[in-house]
Amino acid sequence: MPHLFSPYTLKDVTLRNRIAMSPMTMYRSTDGRMDDFHVMYLGARAAGGFGMVFPEQVAIAPDGRTTPHCAGIWSDDQVEGHARVTSMIDSMGSVAAIQLGHTGRNGSELKPWVGGGLGVQLPPDHPEGWQVVGPSDVPYGFGKRPYPVHPLSVEEIRAIHRQYAEAAVRAHEAGYRWLEMHFAHGYLGASFYSPLANTRTDAYGGSLENRARFLIEALDAVREVWPEHLPLTARLGSDDFHPDGAQFEESVEVVRWLRDHGLDMIDLSMGGNTDDMREPFFPTPSAWVERGARVRSEVGIPTTVSWNLGVPQNADRAVREEKVDLVLLGRPSLANPHWPVWAARELGHADPFTLVPEDWGWWLSNFRGHDASIGWPAPAPTAVEDPDELERSA
Ligand SMILES: Cc1cc2nc3c(=O)[nH]c(=O)nc-3n(C[C@H](O)[C@H](O)[C@H](O)COP(=O)(O)O)c2cc1C
Repeated sequence: MPHLFSPYTLKDVTLRNRIAMSPMTMYRSTDGRMDDFHVMYLGARAAGGFGMVFPEQVAIAPDGRTTPHCAGIWSDDQVEGHARVTSMIDSMGSVAAIQLGHTGRNGSELKPWVGGGLGVQLPPDHPEGWQVVGPSDVPYGFGKRPYPVHPLSVEEIRAIHRQYAEAAVRAHEAGYRWLEMHFAHGYLGASFYSPLANTRTDAYGGSLENRARFLIEALDAVREVWPEHLPLTARLGSDDFHPDGAQFEESVEVVRWLRDHGLDMIDLSMGGNTDDMREPFFPTPSAWVERGARVRSEVGIPTTVSWNLGVPQNADRAVREEKVDLVLLGRPSLANPHWPVWAARELGHADPFTLVPEDWGWWLSNFRGHDASIGWPAPAPTAVEDPDELERSA
């Protein structure tokens, strides 16, 4: 039976465990480049035991960033910074993964802590802003992203697909061994997929097949250049939680199409195309896990999910019950760069310190002392289905 600490192999890549650091935008780049900050921050998580480390959504074009401070790989001179990051992740025994994306109508934003929340947009004529693009001229709205959206022509769509492929070539050159395409969270892929953002009447809008076309063509473009022996995965905005948006039932079918076009694993997440969600999109740790299990068995494709899996027993159970193949941790990996080591202790692993690099792992295993004397945090609560329970008991 697999568990959180079993190795996992997909194509020619083997992860030392089933714990991956989920992509998280850090707003720390200058001209889209990775620098010392990224080497330190991502290297620390690799040293902390994560089996795979994603930096953040990496833009395939300058106008595909969330803010002017976000990372990119649209130009050859950005490769060197990424290569420093992948080399550090590799040397700590982890696998470097890249998430390629284009933010579409949800770009040209301020950092959330500067703008007063997520998604506060700069106008196109602002010196640091830009004209955002999308499937249709439908702004996201809700008072945050009010500016006109340039609807992409078919020629412009093709150019974006070429940018995806060029970015994938650079990603390989930079040493990434796993590539995820970001088709979720309200960004360009997600907005083509969602009727809430896509009102086109051509081959890229309307029917499910047409709304999935942008995603499938982007995948095809990348599959053509990304080595066949390396995993190619996608994060899909599989549900808008709105009656007029993307529906999970339809997404099960779309994952089957993506699989038939060479997708190796699906990462299921929310559409993010509206603030008017009719249900909470991450109500419990098991909500996305159950969806992952359904797609895994119905479509027969390896599956991963994120959202609220920070309690080790919950993450482990999702893998042991073979509902998902990997777990992706976002906020827990920000909060604790050694989350895998801590989780190993919580789950009764024979020697949690085998997860950190051998040099300091040796000291911790052999000169152990009392738990508190080496700074182990207090034991965590046991598995919980309702994260609010944790809040109440705090
Ligand atoms: C600071 C921050 C930045 C994020 N940026 C991205 C991103 O670039 N790409 C993405 O797919 N998800 C992004 N996410 C979502 C996370 O990858 C993850 O799916 C989400 O936080 C849920 O997992 P968690 O409950 O373990 O935090 C971000 C989340 C946070 C907290």
